[in-house]
Amino acid sequence: MNIYPKLITDALATVRYPGTGKNLVEGGMVEDDLRIDGMHVSFSLLFEKNPDPFMKSVVKAAETAIHTFVSPEVKVEIAVKSAQAPRPEPGKMLPQVKNVIAVSSGKGGVGKSTVAANLAVSLARLGFRVGLLDADIFGPSVPKMFHLEAERIFAEQRGGRQLLIPAFKYGVKILSIGFFVNPDTATLWRGGMASNALKQLIADADWGELDYLVLDTPPGTSDIHLTLLQNLAITGAVIVSTPQAVALADARKGIDMYRNDKVNVPILGLVENMAWFTPAELPENKYYIFGREGVKKLAEEMHTPLLAQLPLVQSVCESGDEGEPAAVAENHIMAVHFLDLARRVVEETEKRNRELPATSIVEMKK
Ligand SMILES: Nc1ncnc2c1ncn2[C@@H]1O[C@H](COP(=O)(O)OP(=O)(O)OP(=O)(O)O)[C@@H](O)[C@H]1O
Ligand SMILES: [Mg+2]
Repeated sequence: MNIYPKLITDALATVRYPGTGKNLVEGGMVEDDLRIDGMHVSFSLLFEKNPDPFMKSVVKAAETAIHTFVSPEVKVEIAVKSAQAPRPEPGKMLPQVKNVIAVSSGKGGVGKSTVAANLAVSLARLGFRVGLLDADIFGPSVPKMFHLEAERIFAEQRGGRQLLIPAFKYGVKILSIGFFVNPDTATLWRGGMASNALKQLIADADWGELDYLVLDTPPGTSDIHLTLLQNLAITGAVIVSTPQAVALADARKGIDMYRNDKVNVPILGLVENMAWFTPAELPENKYYIFGREGVKKLAEEMHTPLLAQLPLVQSVCESGDEGEPAAVAENHIMAVHFLDLARRVVEETEKRNRELPATSIVEMKK
Protein backbone atom coordinates (compact mmCIF):
# COMPACT_ATOMS: atom_id res chain seq x y z
CA MET A 1 0.00 0.00 0.00
CA ASN A 2 1.18 3.49 -0.85
CA ILE A 3 0.53 6.26 1.63
CA TYR A 4 0.30 9.73 0.19
CA PRO A 5 -0.15 13.04 2.05
CA LYS A 6 -3.84 13.59 1.22
CA LEU A 7 -4.78 10.29 2.93
CA ILE A 8 -3.19 11.56 6.12
CA THR A 9 -4.67 15.06 6.00
CA ASP A 10 -8.13 13.64 5.23
CA ALA A 11 -7.82 11.44 8.29
CA LEU A 12 -6.70 14.40 10.42
CA ALA A 13 -9.64 16.45 9.14
CA THR A 14 -11.95 14.01 10.98
CA VAL A 15 -10.48 15.05 14.34
CA ARG A 16 -11.90 18.09 16.07
CA TYR A 17 -9.98 20.26 18.50
CA PRO A 18 -12.39 20.66 21.45
CA GLY A 19 -11.11 24.14 22.26
CA THR A 20 -12.42 25.65 19.00
CA GLY A 21 -14.62 22.93 17.49
CA LYS A 22 -12.61 23.15 14.26
CA ASN A 23 -10.90 20.12 12.77
CA LEU A 24 -7.11 19.92 13.00
CA VAL A 25 -6.54 20.86 9.35
CA GLU A 26 -9.05 23.69 9.21
CA GLY A 27 -7.71 25.03 12.54
CA GLY A 28 -4.18 25.22 11.11
CA MET A 29 -2.87 22.83 13.73
CA VAL A 30 -1.12 20.46 11.31
CA GLU A 31 2.33 21.84 10.56
CA ASP A 32 3.74 21.47 7.04
CA ASP A 33 6.47 19.07 8.11
CA LEU A 34 4.59 15.88 7.17
CA ARG A 35 7.02 13.11 6.23
CA ILE A 36 6.09 9.76 4.81
CA ASP A 37 8.65 7.00 4.67
CA GLY A 38 7.07 3.67 3.66
CA MET A 39 4.61 2.92 6.47
CA HIS A 40 6.22 5.46 8.76
CA VAL A 41 4.45 8.85 9.04
CA SER A 42 5.64 11.82 11.09
CA PHE A 43 4.37 15.37 11.50
CA SER A 44 3.85 18.10 14.14
CA LEU A 45 0.70 19.46 15.73
CA LEU A 46 0.71 23.09 16.82
CA PHE A 47 -1.06 24.06 20.05
CA GLU A 48 -1.65 27.67 20.91
CA LYS A 49 -1.62 27.19 24.64
CA ASN A 50 0.89 25.46 26.85
CA PRO A 51 -0.07 23.55 28.81
CA ASP A 52 -3.11 22.72 26.68
CA PRO A 53 -5.77 20.68 28.47
CA PHE A 54 -6.65 18.82 25.25
CA MET A 55 -3.12 18.10 24.07
CA LYS A 56 -2.91 14.42 25.04
CA SER A 57 -6.39 13.48 23.87
CA VAL A 58 -5.98 15.27 20.52
CA VAL A 59 -2.67 13.53 19.80
CA LYS A 60 -4.25 10.18 20.63
CA ALA A 61 -7.30 10.95 18.44
CA ALA A 62 -5.06 11.92 15.52
CA GLU A 63 -3.21 8.63 15.77
CA THR A 64 -6.46 6.65 15.97
CA ALA A 65 -7.87 8.49 12.94
CA ILE A 66 -4.86 7.53 10.83
CA HIS A 67 -5.15 3.92 11.97
CA THR A 68 -8.87 3.87 11.20
CA PHE A 69 -8.97 5.75 7.88
CA VAL A 70 -5.56 4.88 6.40
CA SER A 71 -4.29 1.63 7.87
CA PRO A 72 -3.72 0.12 11.29
CA GLU A 73 -0.23 -0.75 10.07
CA VAL A 74 0.96 2.88 9.87
CA LYS A 75 3.60 3.85 12.42
CA VAL A 76 2.61 7.34 13.51
CA GLU A 77 4.99 9.78 15.17
CA ILE A 78 3.49 13.09 16.28
CA ALA A 79 5.59 15.94 17.64
CA VAL A 80 3.86 18.61 19.68
CA LYS A 81 4.73 22.25 19.15
CA SER A 82 3.37 25.17 21.04
CA ALA A 83 2.99 28.81 20.22
CA GLN A 84 2.89 29.74 23.88
CA ALA A 85 5.99 29.39 26.04
CA PRO A 86 5.16 27.48 29.24
CA ARG A 87 4.35 29.24 32.51
CA PRO A 88 7.39 29.23 34.81
CA GLU A 89 7.36 26.73 37.66
CA PRO A 90 6.36 27.76 41.18
CA GLY A 91 9.34 29.27 42.94
CA LYS A 92 10.79 30.42 39.62
CA MET A 93 7.97 32.86 38.96
CA LEU A 94 8.83 36.55 38.81
CA PRO A 95 12.62 36.26 38.72
CA GLN A 96 12.80 40.00 37.94
CA VAL A 97 11.09 40.93 41.21
CA LYS A 98 13.67 41.58 43.93
CA ASN A 99 11.46 41.65 47.02
CA VAL A 100 7.97 40.33 47.69
CA ILE A 101 6.36 41.85 50.79
CA ALA A 102 3.15 40.31 52.17
CA VAL A 103 0.95 42.67 54.18
CA SER A 104 -1.08 40.52 56.55
CA SER A 105 -3.06 40.54 59.75
CA GLY A 106 -5.09 37.97 61.56
CA LYS A 107 -8.28 39.92 62.03
CA GLY A 108 -10.24 41.54 59.22
CA GLY A 109 -10.76 45.26 58.93
CA VAL A 110 -7.64 46.36 60.80
CA GLY A 111 -6.16 48.25 57.84
CA LYS A 112 -4.18 45.75 55.73
CA SER A 113 -5.39 47.12 52.42
CA THR A 114 -4.87 50.71 53.58
CA VAL A 115 -1.32 49.92 54.69
CA ALA A 116 -0.53 47.85 51.57
CA ALA A 117 -1.78 50.56 49.19
CA ASN A 118 -0.06 53.42 50.99
CA LEU A 119 3.15 51.45 51.45
CA ALA A 120 3.23 50.73 47.71
CA VAL A 121 2.63 54.39 46.81
CA SER A 122 5.26 55.56 49.34
CA LEU A 123 7.88 53.10 48.06
CA ALA A 124 7.23 54.46 44.56
CA ARG A 125 7.63 58.01 45.93
CA LEU A 126 11.04 56.95 47.27
CA GLY A 127 11.99 56.04 43.70
CA PHE A 128 11.55 52.26 43.77
CA ARG A 129 9.86 50.23 41.04
CA VAL A 130 6.75 48.92 42.74
CA GLY A 131 3.89 46.52 42.10
CA LEU A 132 0.76 45.95 44.18
CA LEU A 133 -1.04 42.63 43.91
CA ASP A 134 -4.46 42.46 45.50
CA ALA A 135 -4.49 38.84 46.65
CA ASP A 136 -7.78 39.28 48.50
CA ILE A 137 -9.60 37.30 45.83
CA PHE A 138 -12.94 37.20 47.68
CA GLY A 139 -12.92 40.80 48.88
CA PRO A 140 -10.68 42.90 46.65
CA SER A 141 -10.47 46.51 47.81
CA VAL A 142 -7.58 47.79 45.70
CA PRO A 143 -9.75 48.81 42.69
CA LYS A 144 -11.78 51.15 44.90
CA MET A 145 -8.80 52.54 46.78
CA PHE A 146 -7.11 53.50 43.50
CA HIS A 147 -10.33 54.56 41.80
CA LEU A 148 -9.86 51.83 39.20
CA GLU A 149 -13.32 50.24 39.43
CA ALA A 150 -13.88 50.71 35.72
CA GLU A 151 -10.43 49.43 34.74
CA ARG A 152 -10.34 46.75 32.06
CA ILE A 153 -7.14 44.79 31.74
CA PHE A 154 -5.74 43.53 28.45
CA ALA A 155 -3.35 40.76 27.64
CA GLU A 156 -0.50 41.11 25.18
CA GLN A 157 1.94 38.72 23.59
CA ARG A 158 5.22 39.17 25.46
CA GLY A 159 8.21 36.85 25.30
CA GLY A 160 6.22 34.08 23.60
CA ARG A 161 3.40 34.19 26.15
CA GLN A 162 0.09 35.94 26.43
CA LEU A 163 0.48 38.15 29.53
CA LEU A 164 -1.85 40.46 31.49
CA ILE A 165 -0.70 44.06 31.58
CA PRO A 166 -1.12 45.58 35.07
CA ALA A 167 -2.83 48.94 35.54
CA PHE A 168 -0.51 51.81 36.49
CA LYS A 169 -1.45 54.54 38.95
CA TYR A 170 0.41 56.80 41.40
CA GLY A 171 3.66 55.17 40.27
CA VAL A 172 2.48 51.64 41.08
CA LYS A 173 1.72 48.67 38.80
CA ILE A 174 -1.53 47.18 40.04
CA LEU A 175 -3.46 43.94 39.52
CA SER A 176 -6.60 42.83 41.30
CA ILE A 177 -9.17 40.16 40.56
CA GLY A 178 -11.64 43.02 40.94
CA PHE A 179 -10.57 44.17 37.44
CA PHE A 180 -11.94 40.92 35.98
CA VAL A 181 -15.00 39.90 37.96
CA ASN A 182 -17.86 41.36 39.82
CA PRO A 183 -16.86 40.87 43.48
CA ASP A 184 -20.39 39.73 44.32
CA THR A 185 -19.93 36.57 42.25
CA ALA A 186 -16.58 35.61 43.78
CA THR A 187 -18.28 33.91 46.71
CA LEU A 188 -19.86 31.45 44.26
CA TRP A 189 -16.46 30.23 43.09
CA ARG A 190 -15.69 26.58 43.52
CA GLY A 191 -12.56 25.22 45.17
CA GLY A 192 -9.48 25.81 43.11
CA MET A 193 -10.88 28.67 41.05
CA ALA A 194 -9.68 31.37 43.41
CA SER A 195 -6.27 29.82 43.68
CA ASN A 196 -6.00 29.49 39.89
CA ALA A 197 -7.06 33.08 39.38
CA LEU A 198 -4.43 34.23 41.86
CA LYS A 199 -1.72 32.17 40.13
CA GLN A 200 -2.64 33.88 36.87
CA LEU A 201 -2.28 37.33 38.42
CA ILE A 202 1.19 36.31 39.57
CA ALA A 203 2.64 34.22 36.77
CA ASP A 204 0.68 35.25 33.70
CA ALA A 205 1.19 38.98 34.17
CA ASP A 206 3.85 41.28 32.84
CA TRP A 207 5.13 42.71 36.14
CA GLY A 208 8.50 43.49 34.57
CA GLU A 209 11.42 44.45 36.79
CA LEU A 210 10.34 45.45 40.29
CA ASP A 211 12.18 46.35 43.47
CA TYR A 212 9.10 45.62 45.57
CA LEU A 213 5.94 43.65 44.95
CA VAL A 214 3.50 44.37 47.78
CA LEU A 215 0.79 41.76 48.44
CA ASP A 216 -2.50 42.78 50.02
CA THR A 217 -3.65 39.51 51.59
CA PRO A 218 -7.09 38.41 52.81
CA PRO A 219 -7.82 38.34 56.55
CA GLY A 220 -6.89 35.26 58.55
CA THR A 221 -4.89 32.29 57.38
CA SER A 222 -6.64 30.82 54.37
CA ASP A 223 -6.11 28.71 51.26
CA ILE A 224 -5.17 31.92 49.50
CA HIS A 225 -2.20 32.35 51.83
CA LEU A 226 -1.20 28.79 51.05
CA THR A 227 -1.39 29.49 47.31
CA LEU A 228 0.83 32.54 47.77
CA LEU A 229 3.36 30.59 49.83
CA GLN A 230 3.39 27.73 47.32
CA ASN A 231 4.01 29.97 44.35
CA LEU A 232 5.99 32.99 45.48
CA ALA A 233 9.14 33.24 47.54
CA ILE A 234 7.92 35.89 49.98
CA THR A 235 10.85 37.99 51.20
CA GLY A 236 9.11 39.11 54.36
CA ALA A 237 5.77 39.82 55.99
CA VAL A 238 4.46 43.04 57.50
CA ILE A 239 1.77 42.34 60.10
CA VAL A 240 -0.89 44.98 60.70
CA SER A 241 -2.97 45.09 63.87
CA THR A 242 -4.94 47.50 65.97
CA PRO A 243 -4.04 47.65 69.68
CA GLN A 244 -7.25 45.82 70.61
CA ALA A 245 -6.90 42.46 72.44
CA VAL A 246 -8.94 40.49 69.86
CA ALA A 247 -6.88 41.88 67.00
CA LEU A 248 -3.62 41.13 68.84
CA ALA A 249 -4.61 37.51 69.43
CA ASP A 250 -5.26 37.10 65.70
CA ALA A 251 -2.06 38.95 64.75
CA ARG A 252 -0.15 36.39 66.82
CA LYS A 253 -1.73 33.61 64.71
CA GLY A 254 -0.68 35.44 61.56
CA ILE A 255 2.90 35.73 62.83
CA ASP A 256 2.92 32.03 63.76
CA MET A 257 1.75 31.08 60.27
CA TYR A 258 4.73 32.82 58.65
CA ARG A 259 7.20 31.63 61.27
CA ASN A 260 6.05 27.98 61.02
CA ASP A 261 9.05 25.70 60.18
CA LYS A 262 7.45 24.62 56.92
CA VAL A 263 6.94 28.23 55.83
CA ASN A 264 9.88 30.23 57.18
CA VAL A 265 8.93 33.66 55.94
CA PRO A 266 10.68 36.30 58.10
CA ILE A 267 8.49 38.90 59.81
CA LEU A 268 9.86 42.32 58.83
CA GLY A 269 7.87 43.96 61.59
CA LEU A 270 4.50 45.03 62.93
CA VAL A 271 2.37 48.06 62.18
CA GLU A 272 0.12 49.46 64.90
CA ASN A 273 -2.83 50.94 63.04
CA MET A 274 -5.45 53.14 64.65
CA ALA A 275 -2.96 53.55 67.50
CA TRP A 276 -4.75 56.66 68.77
CA PHE A 277 -7.23 59.30 67.67
CA THR A 278 -6.41 62.99 67.61
CA PRO A 279 -9.27 65.38 66.89
CA ALA A 280 -8.36 68.19 64.48
CA GLU A 281 -9.40 70.84 67.01
CA LEU A 282 -7.21 69.36 69.80
CA PRO A 283 -4.00 68.44 67.98
CA GLU A 284 -2.06 67.82 71.22
CA ASN A 285 -4.50 65.22 72.49
CA LYS A 286 -4.27 61.52 71.85
CA TYR A 287 -7.19 59.25 72.65
CA TYR A 288 -6.33 55.56 72.87
CA ILE A 289 -9.64 54.20 71.67
CA PHE A 290 -8.51 50.61 71.08
CA GLY A 291 -6.11 50.43 74.04
CA ARG A 292 -2.61 51.75 74.42
CA GLU A 293 0.46 50.38 72.63
CA GLY A 294 -0.82 46.80 72.43
CA VAL A 295 1.03 46.20 69.15
CA LYS A 296 4.21 47.77 70.50
CA LYS A 297 4.12 45.28 73.38
CA LEU A 298 3.41 42.39 71.02
CA ALA A 299 6.40 43.42 68.88
CA GLU A 300 8.67 43.35 71.93
CA GLU A 301 7.32 39.98 72.99
CA MET A 302 7.73 38.50 69.49
CA HIS A 303 11.22 40.03 69.07
CA THR A 304 10.24 41.84 65.94
CA PRO A 305 10.47 45.56 65.08
CA LEU A 306 7.56 47.96 65.43
CA LEU A 307 7.62 49.62 62.00
CA ALA A 308 5.02 52.33 62.57
CA GLN A 309 2.27 53.61 64.84
CA LEU A 310 -0.43 55.11 62.65
CA PRO A 311 -3.14 57.33 64.13
CA LEU A 312 -6.80 56.99 63.35
CA VAL A 313 -7.43 59.88 60.98
CA GLN A 314 -10.75 60.52 59.34
CA SER A 315 -9.16 61.54 56.06
CA VAL A 316 -7.49 58.11 55.69
CA CYS A 317 -10.88 56.54 55.51
CA GLU A 318 -12.19 59.25 53.16
CA SER A 319 -9.21 59.10 50.84
CA GLY A 320 -9.56 55.32 50.66
CA ASP A 321 -13.17 55.75 49.62
CA GLU A 322 -12.37 58.49 47.14
CA GLY A 323 -9.75 56.48 45.33
CA GLU A 324 -6.66 58.45 46.24
CA PRO A 325 -4.51 56.83 48.95
CA ALA A 326 -3.44 59.31 51.66
CA ALA A 327 0.22 58.75 50.74
CA VAL A 328 -0.34 60.49 47.41
CA ALA A 329 -0.90 63.92 48.98
CA GLU A 330 2.57 65.30 49.65
CA ASN A 331 1.96 67.35 52.78
CA HIS A 332 -0.68 65.23 54.39
CA ILE A 333 0.18 64.18 57.94
CA MET A 334 -0.50 60.56 57.00
CA ALA A 335 1.69 60.77 53.90
CA VAL A 336 4.60 61.55 56.24
CA HIS A 337 3.73 58.53 58.41
CA PHE A 338 3.52 56.26 55.36
CA LEU A 339 6.84 57.51 53.96
CA ASP A 340 8.46 56.72 57.31
CA LEU A 341 6.87 53.28 57.20
CA ALA A 342 8.23 52.72 53.68
CA ARG A 343 11.75 53.71 54.79
CA ARG A 344 11.55 51.30 57.74
CA VAL A 345 10.32 48.48 55.45
CA VAL A 346 13.27 49.12 53.11
CA GLU A 347 15.73 49.05 56.05
CA GLU A 348 14.30 45.84 57.45
CA THR A 349 14.16 44.18 54.01
CA GLU A 350 17.78 45.03 53.32
CA LYS A 351 18.80 43.78 56.76
CA ARG A 352 16.87 40.57 56.20
CA ASN A 353 18.50 40.07 52.78
CA ARG A 354 21.97 40.50 54.31
CA GLU A 355 21.39 38.19 57.25
CA LEU A 356 19.03 35.44 56.11
CA PRO A 357 18.92 33.05 53.16
CA ALA A 358 16.35 33.61 50.40
CA THR A 359 12.88 32.25 51.20
CA SER A 360 11.91 28.95 49.58
CA ILE A 361 8.40 28.25 48.44
CA VAL A 362 6.27 25.81 50.42
CA GLU A 363 6.32 22.52 48.51
CA MET A 364 2.96 21.31 47.31
CA LYS A 365 1.75 17.97 48.59
CA LYS A 366 1.55 15.55 45.71
N1 LIG B 1 -5.44 54.83 60.21
C1 LIG B 1 -6.70 54.86 59.79
N2 LIG B 1 -7.50 55.93 60.06
C2 LIG B 1 -8.78 55.96 59.64
N3 LIG B 1 -9.38 55.00 58.96
C3 LIG B 1 -8.66 53.90 58.65
C4 LIG B 1 -7.29 53.78 59.04
N4 LIG B 1 -6.83 52.57 58.59
C5 LIG B 1 -7.87 51.99 57.95
N5 LIG B 1 -8.96 52.77 57.99
C6 LIG B 1 -10.30 52.48 57.42
O1 LIG B 1 -10.78 51.29 58.03
C7 LIG B 1 -11.48 50.48 57.10
C8 LIG B 1 -10.82 49.10 57.01
O2 LIG B 1 -9.51 49.26 56.48
P1 LIG B 1 -8.92 48.25 55.40
O3 LIG B 1 -9.90 47.97 54.32
O4 LIG B 1 -7.59 48.78 55.03
O5 LIG B 1 -8.75 46.98 56.33
P2 LIG B 1 -8.42 45.47 55.91
O6 LIG B 1 -7.65 44.90 57.04
O7 LIG B 1 -7.80 45.42 54.59
O8 LIG B 1 -9.85 44.83 55.84
P3 LIG B 1 -10.27 43.40 55.23
O9 LIG B 1 -9.90 42.42 56.29
O10 LIG B 1 -11.72 43.53 55.02
O11 LIG B 1 -9.48 43.21 53.97
C9 LIG B 1 -11.45 51.24 55.78
O12 LIG B 1 -12.62 51.96 55.66
C10 LIG B 1 -10.26 52.18 55.94
O13 LIG B 1 -10.39 53.36 55.18
MG1 LIG C 1 -8.39 44.37 52.84
